[in-house]
Amino acid sequence: MEERSVAEAETEAKAETGAGAGPDVVAGDQGGPVAPGDLGDPSAPVIATRSLTKRYRGGQLAVDGLDLTVPAGSIFGFLGPNGSGKTTTIRMLMGLIEPTSGTARVLGQPMPRSSRAVLPHVGALIEGPALYGFLSGRDNLLRYDAADPTADPRTRRTRVETALDRVGLSAAAGKKARAYSLGMKQRLGLAAALLQPRKLLVLDEPTNGLDPQGMREIRTLVRELASDGTTVFLSSHLLDEIEQVCTHAAVMAQGRLITQGAVADLAAGARGRLVVRTPDTADAARVLKEQGVADVVVEEERVTGEPPEGELADLNAALVVARVRVRGFGVERASLEDAFVALTGEGFDVAG
Ligand SMILES: Nc1ncnc2c1ncn2[C@@H]1O[C@H](COP(=O)(O)OP(=O)(O)O)[C@@H](O)[C@H]1O
Ligand SMILES: [Mg+2]
Repeated sequence: MEERSVAEAETEAKAETGAGAGPDVVAGDQGGPVAPGDLGDPSAPVIATRSLTKRYRGGQLAVDGLDLTVPAGSIFGFLGPNGSGKTTTIRMLMGLIEPTSGTARVLGQPMPRSSRAVLPHVGALIEGPALYGFLSGRDNLLRYDAADPTADPRTRRTRVETALDRVGLSAAAGKKARAYSLGMKQRLGLAAALLQPRKLLVLDEPTNGLDPQGMREIRTLVRELASDGTTVFLSSHLLDEIEQVCTHAAVMAQGRLITQGAVADLAAGARGRLVVRTPDTADAARVLKEQGVADVVVEEERVTGEPPEGELADLNAALVVARVRVRGFGVERASLEDAFVALTGEGFDVAG
């Protein structure tokens, strides 16, 4: 765990409720919460950074000249191996830390300067929710809601029950939070971010540490939220996850942006793999090499390689002539991982 100052940790806890709305922020301050529509053109990017850079005091260049554009209504995956600068970027976007240089706009407003106007429209979950273990899930949410001066106390119960229902925690709402599984804690954190309608949800590694079932639940929830028009910005070090849920993605490595765009376009930028399914892998590999296929890799019961420029049917015919028993033959669609490998020349490091 990184070290944080108390003040920073407190600001973070506030960001988790979504509202930049600690008790010190008075409703009506700076004209009060900004009405929908006041935050600029609805088709404008929800997040836009220019040369955003963060060098920590120790000298670590965590984010290096980042130009990020998150379209409105997207499910935007912020993908990168551990240590690539995702959390640092998110903390700058949420106004929790100052950039060393460059600018960040969220909902059209400069951050951190416009935090008070912007954060009430943003639900954020950064590095796990801050919860009181001795309180029930429900009481944790009631506490979060009470800390938001813009939240009407008369409708508090309803808001909390709706949020609990949304994340599937109604039945467990009376249990103490310390008895919650990691997945339940993540969902409770999400519920806190959902107490108010948001234009933007920012989720930092929301499935970290969850089992496959927990990950599926979070993915389903993210899709539901986005279908209501909320822009969702989620970070992950898991390629698979981004590919399954996101419409757009940005790929980070060592603090730098490698690429960004629609997931379908990113994957299309890389060529697919020729895949031959066969019990005769050694013979198949030899024939493919003879036919000029590059980067031939033998796996269990299949051989893959770079698809050649010419006619694929000729390749299949050559296999048959050489008496290779072919069970399957085709070109698999390129994945985001192929794109990543093509762009960086490295495998995507998914190790923790
Ligand atoms: N508070 C900090 N002080 C100094 N270095 C930090 C701090 N937080 C993160 N870093 C460093 O900055 C780099 C990016 O970290 P981080 O933004 O947490 O990446 P990610 O979220 O992608 O794992 C890493 O090298 C990390 O060690
Ligand atoms: Mg992180």
